[in-house]
Amino acid sequence: MLKLVRWDYASPFRFVSSEGQIMAKISKVGVVGSGNMGQGIAQVAAQAGYGVVLFDVAAAQLERATGNIQKSLAKLEEKGKLKESPSAISGRLKISTRLEDLKSCDMVIEAATENREVKFKLFRDLDALLSKEALLLTNTSSISITEIARQTSRPDRVAGMHFMNPVPLMTLVEGIRGMQTSEETFKTAREVAEAMGKIFIEAKDAPGFVVNRILIPMLNEAFFALQESLATAKDIDQAMKLGCNFPMGPFELADFVGLDVCLAVTEVLYKDLGDSKYRPCPLLRKYVEAGWTGRKSGRGVYVY
Ligand code: 3HC
Repeated sequence: MLKLVRWDYASPFRFVSSEGQIMAKISKVGVVGSGNMGQGIAQVAAQAGYGVVLFDVAAAQLERATGNIQKSLAKLEEKGKLKESPSAISGRLKISTRLEDLKSCDMVIEAATENREVKFKLFRDLDALLSKEALLLTNTSSISITEIARQTSRPDRVAGMHFMNPVPLMTLVEGIRGMQTSEETFKTAREVAEAMGKIFIEAKDAPGFVVNRILIPMLNEAFFALQESLATAKDIDQAMKLGCNFPMGPFELADFVGLDVCLAVTEVLYKDLGDSKYRPCPLLRKYVEAGWTGRKSGRGVYVY
């Protein structure tokens, strides 16, 4: 079982990069936020051999995350996809409700709620807490990396690492450079993603990066189709699965990602790109207003 602990790390080994920047060798990774994305990132980081501290303000959410990680590791082991036993992997993973327990991490990946003010404050707090050499990564799906980096005194050591849900199964990580991100920081982000078994692609720091710029308007359009009664939700899902070979229909995927997340990303695309084609579908907004945010709340377009 994972335990709530306080850690006392030895100082990380440091070296000077080709840019003359002092870089810390990554051995301890902190993850902020233990929702779907954070728990998946913590899991793949532990699978890659890093010591991991998963932080969340909510102890109950951390307990849920722990259970999900155990289930996921058991499933992967059953399929022969783990190099070590689940207990060896989870032995490297600690959980904590104290941000200070991230203090000696060499890299922190933030996967908190998709809200600018929440992320900005977290980056300011992490910047004050961590060693000067530590890297700060964000799993934001749509917020400007450049603006997040600006909240810190180390903008050169901030970059985007956007994982896909479910993190243990999906191979892609979008790497995003802010205006200030150094070559060394970006190179380290790529190396860490690759150590996690992911394929790293480089995306520009523009709203939605690549995946969400294309995927989220498609999901939003599916809500317009439903609102206009083009077909039932089930038939729209069938159409896209059978007609386009998508593994999930748009509503299955929206429920899986979270309708609140879909709406938040749509709002960012609409506001930052200033084009009416990104306007959120009123029906999507209504679902979120009803609290029907998808699988996580037991009800989205479908009932679970
Ligand atoms: N860990 C380990 N195993 C898992 C797992 C997890 N987290 N989640 C599912 N599995 C297992 C299931 O238990 C199942 O095992 P079984 O074969 O023994 O029954 C197996 O994986 C296959 O799962 P399912 O049968 O439930 O379903 P699928 O065959 O459809 O596969 C999927 C699941 C890989 C999620 C597939 O449906 C898929 O690729 N869906 C699309 C996901 C996608 O598009 N993600 C990107 C979303 S966008 C995003 O994340 C960006 C964000 O910013 C919005």
